[in-house]
Amino acid sequence: MTGEIEPADYRRALGHFCTGVTVVAAIDGDGEPIGFACQSFAALSLDPPLVLFCPGKSSRTWPHIEAAGSFCVNVLSHEQRDVSMVFGRAGEDKFAAVDWSPAPSGAPALSGALTWLDCSVESVVDGGDHHIVIGRVTTLAEPVSGRPLLFYRGAYTATEQAEPTPGVLDNLITWSSDWSRTDTWF
Ligand SMILES: Cc1cc2nc3c(=O)[nH]c(=O)nc-3n(C[C@H](O)[C@H](O)[C@H](O)COP(=O)(O)O)c2cc1C
Repeated sequence: MTGEIEPADYRRALGHFCTGVTVVAAIDGDGEPIGFACQSFAALSLDPPLVLFCPGKSSRTWPHIEAAGSFCVNVLSHEQRDVSMVFGRAGEDKFAAVDWSPAPSGAPALSGALTWLDCSVESVVDGGDHHIVIGRVTTLAEPVSGRPLLFYRGAYTATEQAEPTPGVLDNLITWSSDWSRTDTWF
């Protein structure tokens, strides 16, 4: 397809890119927990440890995260569809049905998540109708085993596999500076 991109075609094409689902959470100026479901999360750099996520410019949650200066990325398990659905739409009390405890920054770490990453806001880059937020990872949780929640073609799904293939994870990270030499991802 060439020429002008129709929004529906664009959504349909991008929907074929399967992702995990996170909840990016922080504490607002009143001391209340806030957060939103986010699939645009990615590992960015190992050294320094950077990640990114992309909140829409109309997000009500993002200004609070920006003001807080720190956030916790919760990687959802396949048992947390309901959590994703609550955090995936605007609502008054998204935290009513989920237990959480403060990560070292104070940002909410959700019970039941496969793992979480506590981060500080490093920089914000313009990304069209979204912001590209780069975060510096300050604390990592001990991951628990389980299957991740996936989002594909507008629906939730899950992998068959719960455990990593032995040895593969050791070589996993984004295109590192010596990628051409080692030919490994992360
Ligand atoms: C699976 C899933 C993934 C989402 N990923 C994103 C995302 O990457 N960026 C974003 O801005 N919104 C994303 N959303 C939508 C937001 O979660 C939703 O618009 C937000 O919770 C609205 O509340 P807020 O305005 O209070 O932030 C996603 C929703 C779902 C269900």
